[in-house]
Order: sequence, then structure tokens, then C-alpha cells
Amino acid sequence: MIDIHSHILPAIDDGSFSVEESIAMARQAVADGIRTVVATPHTLNGVYCNPLREVTDHVANLRGILQKNRIELNLCPGSEAHICVGLTEKILSGEVATINNNGQYVLVEFPVHAIPSGLKDELFRLKLKGITPIIAHPERNMVFQRRLEFLYDLVAMGSIVQITATSITGGLGEEAMECAHILLDLRLAHIIATDSHSTENRPSVLSPAVEVAGEIVGDINEAKEMVTIRPGAILAGKLVNLPEPKHPRKKRWFSTIFGC
Ligand SMILES: [Fe+2]
Repeated sequence: MIDIHSHILPAIDDGSFSVEESIAMARQAVADGIRTVVATPHTLNGVYCNPLREVTDHVANLRGILQKNRIELNLCPGSEAHICVGLTEKILSGEVATINNNGQYVLVEFPVHAIPSGLKDELFRLKLKGITPIIAHPERNMVFQRRLEFLYDLVAMGSIVQITATSITGGLGEEAMECAHILLDLRLAHIIATDSHSTENRPSVLSPAVEVAGEIVGDINEAKEMVTIRPGAILAGKLVNLPEPKHPRKKRWFSTIFGC
């Protein structure tokens, strides 16, 4: 499996606080069957900057430490970039890391309580430059929870959606779990990732969430694609084949009439 969202790099954001913690997270990932982790530290969120050059150095350091400890886990650079006007230029100028440094995909985080106007335009600007935004864990965002149509629009314009494993299994609360399950059912969730911050807080584990996702989508192989083929294509900078999403409004209308 491949995990495209992890705060495994030590002491550069609110994720792993030490090298020892990072080693433990790596061992936890390998034990779950994860072979590749993309290190995605918070970037441009008002607290952490983490420019590309520094992320690349930190990844190289941790790779060396994992090798010394004989932990067979591939580590790639990335970022969890806070969406802001001008993000496109910051990526193009090499200030912000894309997934695996391939310039094709970037993981973007939205503000939790409100989405200022102009951000949709920024996603559009990214697409125009050939960079596909991957929206990080919308199931945990109050705005998306209440406006699934908005997320549908972002997917229709070419965005990819990542949901968090612990949301699916219920560890991040009822609302996040309910929203994650709806997104899976609507095919508005494309990738499952850990968003791991430690071995305890959103651990580096994917397989229990894949099992639950398989039950919701009715096909365990489709759920497995969300942690294998699809993130693999993202790492390789290739096109990701995605299922046709259902529109949330149609779903609600259908449910009201038929009670399902
Ligand atoms: Fe994150």
C-alpha cells in the first residue's frame, strides 16, 4: 500500500516530535503492509512554512535513518499546502513541494470553518498549469460536511479527494465518519491516506479503513485501489482513473422519496 499523506518527518510540524517517533511510525506502517509513505508536512498554514528544499533535506535524512534501522519503507517528499491565493506561483517557483516532486499533484488543505471566495479560482489556476489538487480530508471540514455539492463541483473540475483512514473507522468523531461514508458511497472519495501524526494520533495504518470502505462501496478491490493503484499513479505523475461520482443533491432527493 501507499500512503500519500503523513506527518512522519520529525520535529518540523505538529506530527512526529522526534526521530524515535518517526522510526516507530515507519515500523507501524510496514507492519500494516504500507511500502511507500509521502511525507507531507504542513506548509503555508500560518504556523509552518516548510519550503521544498528543506522538505527534501529532511526526507533524505530520515531515509538514511530508516536504512540504518533496516526498515524497508520508501519515503517521498511532498507537502500539505494550505490553500491560498498565489499557491500556484509558489509551486511553480519551487517554493512548495508537490507529491514526489513530480510537479503534477499537490495535497491541499482548506480552512476548517469557512472557505473564502477566490480559493476555487486558485484550484482552477493550478489545473490550468497542469497541477492537480488533491483535497485533504474534506470529511473533517464543516464547510464540506454541509455543502457536498461544493466538493462535487471541485471534483467535476478535476480535483481528487483524499479521506483519512481514521475518519472511516470512527476515530475522529461521528460527523467525520458519517461524511466519509457518504463520500465513499457517492464516489466522491478517491484516495485513503493516514494523515498520520504519531503512532497513536491517526496512526500509520490503512488496512482497517480499507475493509470498511470495501463494505461501503460493495467491492473490496475498488477499496484497495484507493491505497494502491490510484496513489501509485499519483506518485508516478500519471493520470488517475476515477469512477463517475454521483451528485449529492440527486442522492438526497432520491433518499427523501425512497427512504434509502
Ligand atoms: Fe495532514
